[in-house]
Amino acid sequence: MSNWVDLCPVDEIPEGEGKSFELKGKTIGVFNSEGQIRAIDDFCPHMGAPLTGGHVENGVVTCPWHAWRFRLEDGAWADNPKIKIGCHKTQVVDGRIQICEPG
Ligand code: FES
Repeated sequence: MSNWVDLCPVDEIPEGEGKSFELKGKTIGVFNSEGQIRAIDDFCPHMGAPLTGGHVENGVVTCPWHAWRFRLEDGAWADNPKIKIGCHKTQVVDGRIQICEPG
């Protein structure tokens, strides 16, 4: 059974931006890409940059340090999709973003 956790109003994350949240000891980045709310780990596996500081375009966030690119829909590294970071389900209910609690 999914355990949904309330995060914030959907308009708190403008189009093309991300915001970081702490949840069960994990840092998770929640992004608004063309109105789609997506959540992936806010931690670049290259050298640990926060991905919420990166540029968001066409469903992809570009790491602000060395430009590795990650797909927001599944956390895959866009240049080598075999490598993935954590991806978390989200939903919007009554104008608020909820995330499926990481296990
Ligand atoms: S820390 Fe993200 S690409 Fe280097």
